[in-house]
Amino acid sequence: MYIGNVEIKGYAALAPMAGVADRAFRELCRDFGAAYVVTEMVSSKGVSYNSSKSTELMEISDKERPAGVQIFGNEPETMAQAAITAMKFKPEIIDINMGCPAPKVSGNGCGAALMKNPKLCGEIVKAVSNAVNVPVTVKIRKGWDDNSVNAVEVAQICEANGAKAITIHGRTRMQQYQPYADWNIIREVKQSVKIPVIGNGDIQTAEDAQRMYEETNCDLVMIGRGALGNPWIFMQIYSWFTEERQIPTPSVAEKLWVMLRHIKTLCEYKGEEHGMREARKHAAWYLKGLKGAAKFRNEAGRLTTFKDLETLAGEVYKMNILG
Ligand SMILES: Cc1cc2nc3c(=O)[nH]c(=O)nc-3n(C[C@H](O)[C@H](O)[C@H](O)COP(=O)(O)O)c2cc1C
Repeated sequence: MYIGNVEIKGYAALAPMAGVADRAFRELCRDFGAAYVVTEMVSSKGVSYNSSKSTELMEISDKERPAGVQIFGNEPETMAQAAITAMKFKPEIIDINMGCPAPKVSGNGCGAALMKNPKLCGEIVKAVSNAVNVPVTVKIRKGWDDNSVNAVEVAQICEANGAKAITIHGRTRMQQYQPYADWNIIREVKQSVKIPVIGNGDIQTAEDAQRMYEETNCDLVMIGRGALGNPWIFMQIYSWFTEERQIPTPSVAEKLWVMLRHIKTLCEYKGEEHGMREARKHAAWYLKGLKGAAKFRNEAGRLTTFKDLETLAGEVYKMNILG
């Protein structure tokens, strides 16, 4: 499928995830077959203040392309300027966040709060689309709450103002991340616009991905939490659709090997001290379900160097394989 003029090959994209889907994880997921990736959300205000943190978040390496930079904010002009700055990193796509439920974002009228003001959504999409020469996409939710479900209206306004694809997470802002996502709203959005629709919410397996395609007729699926400690999900989905075969869950050795590779890259990009602080949550996701995971959770704080992680991986391997 195409988003504007960008060809997207594959069957599942990696969702933007603040604090998780950084460059190291995005590269890994592309290696495992993710169709495209999106950066963590970047504050357009932060960009306008020249914040180095915001600039770092926009960095994309050639290993992750095609990739989108996601920006958030509620001022059309500031958003357009942030998109222009993002273009320094040559993203294939600029994505606009209209779904973040976090109080520090939606409480300031950004993220999911934009859905309460569809006219402003259109103005933002128009300003950003006019500012850059790459396709602009929008990530929305079902609506603000159960009394204001307006994903169809917002999707149509975004399309009319130049959006080249819509990603929809089938929950309202008030639902945050629980309970189950409503896939009916994905189907309704798909029926109401001509641009591609990317379905998102609760895909944990290749079977889930197939079910979402069948039930919603979406053009692509996007995976967030299902990829945590589990980049294999992209490979599993790819072979499910191309070869009709199920790739088994990875062995303990594979899990540990990929975990080490992932965190080594993370440390290279962020420095060992910062990298290892972030590595703890990733390690917990990789180790989930293995013998030794509970012990690790209690002692996660002791992981301060990459060597500590290698030692831990050795201990976990012994516990699981050698008994
Ligand atoms: C830790 C975390 C961080 C997230 N950060 C972002 C973000 O920066 N931008 C965004 O549009 N959505 C963000 N999301 C939402 C996901 O992109 C996705 O819409 C949501 O998790 C539902 O998909 P899933 O069920 O596959 O996880 C985040 C979700 C999680 C769990």
